[in-house]
Amino acid sequence: MRRLLVTGGAGFIGANFVHYWLRNHPDDRVVVLDVLTYAGRRASLASVERHSNFRFVRGDIRDQALVEALLKEERADTLVHFAAESHVDRSILGPDAFIETNVIGTHSLLKAARNIWLKENASSAFERHRFHQVSTDEVYGTLGPDEPPFCETTPYAPSSPYAATKAAADHLVRSYHRTYGLQTTTSNCSNNYGPYQFPEKLIPLMLINALQGRPLPVYGDGQQVRDWLYVEDHCRGIELVLEKGHVGETYNLGGRSEKTNLDVVQILCRHLDELMPDAAYAPHISLLSFVRDRPGHDRRYAIDTSKAKAELGYQPQEDFESGLRKTLAWYLGNELWWRALLDAHYQDWIEAHYGRRARNGTFQPYSSLT
Ligand code: NAD
Ligand code: DAU
Repeated sequence: MRRLLVTGGAGFIGANFVHYWLRNHPDDRVVVLDVLTYAGRRASLASVERHSNFRFVRGDIRDQALVEALLKEERADTLVHFAAESHVDRSILGPDAFIETNVIGTHSLLKAARNIWLKENASSAFERHRFHQVSTDEVYGTLGPDEPPFCETTPYAPSSPYAATKAAADHLVRSYHRTYGLQTTTSNCSNNYGPYQFPEKLIPLMLINALQGRPLPVYGDGQQVRDWLYVEDHCRGIELVLEKGHVGETYNLGGRSEKTNLDVVQILCRHLDELMPDAAYAPHISLLSFVRDRPGHDRRYAIDTSKAKAELGYQPQEDFESGLRKTLAWYLGNELWWRALLDAHYQDWIEAHYGRRARNGTFQPYSSLT
C-alpha cells in the first residue's frame, strides 16, 4: 500500500492521475497539494472529494515547512510531482513565475523530501520512498523531419523559458539522487490531451473556439509536429514507472502518434462536423486562421518509447482517433466545467496573446492555405 503526495493534482494531468489512481488503487492514500493557480480547479476533483482515502490541501510547493509537515503527518512514501507553470506561450510573455514554481518550487520539494525521508532518525517506513518527477519531451529541444525520436540519452537543449525551467528541475532531481541518494525517477512525456485540460492548450482551445464560432488560430504554417498521447495512457505510464521503474532512471513516454498541428485541427473539425452536422459554424474548418508564429517554436517532437516498453511493458491503449473521440465526448458532456473557466482572467489572456496578432492583421483566411 502506498501513501502518495501528489503536487499539482488539481491541474489537467494531476487530476486525471488522481482519478486513475483511486480507481485502480482504492486502498492507497492520496493527498493533493495544489495552490490553485488559474490552471488548478477543485471542480476537477469533485468526484473523489468524498473518497475516504483522499485529502486536498491548498498550498504552495515552495512552502517547505508545509511539505515537510504533510510528508510526516500523512506518512507519505511517494511524491508524484506534477505542479508547474505549464504553458509555453505564457512563459514567453512572463518567465518569472516559471522560475519560481518549476525551479525553486521543485528544489523546495527535494529539500523537504530529503529532510523527512533521509535524515538520520527517519522512520523505517521511509526506507523505501520515491520522488517522481513528471517532466516533458520539450527539454530535448527540436527535431528535424528525418531525425530519430528523442531517447533518454538525447542531450537537453530547451528552447522556451518553460522548457528551460523543466530542464533545470530535472537536473536538480538527478543531482539529489546522485549526491544524497534520494530515490528518484523521472518521466519525460509528449503532448497530452483529454478531459480537464485548460483551454489555452491546442486541442481544448480549438474545440471551445469552434463550438463558439471563434477563429481557430494556427501558428505559422501549422506544419509543426507533436506526438500526441491520451492523458490516461500517461497516467498508466507513471504508474508503471512507480511500480517497475529503477531508481535514478528516466523513462520517455509518448503516443507514437506524430501529427502536424494543421492535421490535428482538421481531424478535430471533421469529428465536430460528424457530431454536429447542423451546427451554425459547420464546416468548422472554415474558422481556421493562420496567425503569427510562436517565437522559438520547436518544429518537431517525437518520442522513442522503447526503454519504457522493454523495462516496464509500457504501451498506450488509445490511438489519436479513439482518444480524440473520448475527449470530444467529455467536453461536450461537461460544458459547465469549461464554461466556468471562460472568466475575465481568461479573456485577458486571450486578448493579451491573440488580440495583438489579430489586430496586426496577421489572421489570414483558411483559403490562403491553397
Ligand atoms: P496544468 O497547468 O494543467 O496544472 C498545473 C497544476 O499545478 C495546477 O493545478 C496549478 O494550480 C498547480 N500549481 C502551479 N504552481 C503551483 C505551486 N507553486 N504550488 C502548488 N501547486 C501549483 O499542467 P499539466 O498540463 O497538468 O502538467 C502537469 C505536469 O506535467 C507539469 O509538470 C508539466 O510540465 C508536465 N507535462 C505536461 C504535458 C502536457 O501535455 N500537458 C506533457 C508532458 C509533461
Ligand atoms: O510536449 C509536451 C508539452 O506539451 C508540455 O510539456 C507542455 O506543458 C504542454 O503545454 C505542451 O506544450 P506545447 O507547446 O507543445 O502545447 P500547446 O498546446 O501550447 O501547443 C501545441 C502545438 O500547437 C504547438 O506547436 C503550438 C501550436 N499552437 C498552440 C496554440 C495554443 C497553435 O498553433 N495555436 C495555438 O493557439
